[in-house]
Amino acid sequence: MVLPIYIYGQPVLRKVAEDITPDYPNLKELIANMFETMDKADGVGLAAPQIGLPIRVVVVDLNVLSEDMPEYKDFRKAYINAHILEVSGEEVSMEEGCLSLPGIHEPVKRGSKIRVKYLDENLEPHEEEVEGYLARVMQHEFDHLEGKMFIDHLSTLRKQMIKGKLNAMLKGKAHCTYKVRTVK
Ligand code: NI
Repeated sequence: MVLPIYIYGQPVLRKVAEDITPDYPNLKELIANMFETMDKADGVGLAAPQIGLPIRVVVVDLNVLSEDMPEYKDFRKAYINAHILEVSGEEVSMEEGCLSLPGIHEPVKRGSKIRVKYLDENLEPHEEEVEGYLARVMQHEFDHLEGKMFIDHLSTLRKQMIKGKLNAMLKGKAHCTYKVRTVK
């Protein structure tokens, strides 16, 4: 089932999301719905707060990029109770967008390497080091679990320049091809 994506201004996007317990109801179905919602919106990642749930669940699909980055062929993963333990490496700037911030694309500086812990879809625990494009997507998505959005990383000047677009979203104007839920 495709779910509506919550747009900037929705309070759930600013909450610190909570870990879930193994008996969380209908987790498999929730993950399937998140994948379907992300696919429909042509996203590479989606965090549960973006569908209105303040829980630490993220889905990522990098297969769409595998023509340019063959290492991500068939890469499709869910991360549960995801936490970033460490960010390191060289700071790299790259343009980002977000399904909760339609029409905004800005360069964001992030470390090139991270150490993360999470449970996979079978609730098996993992701790790993991640680099490259995946490290960027994971930092973006895991930020959502801390109540952060990529615009928080921008300079005051860049923030000023997107203010009009943000204010329009607060008034319920979001031009997208996918189903959304604005604050008004
Ligand atoms: Ni996002």
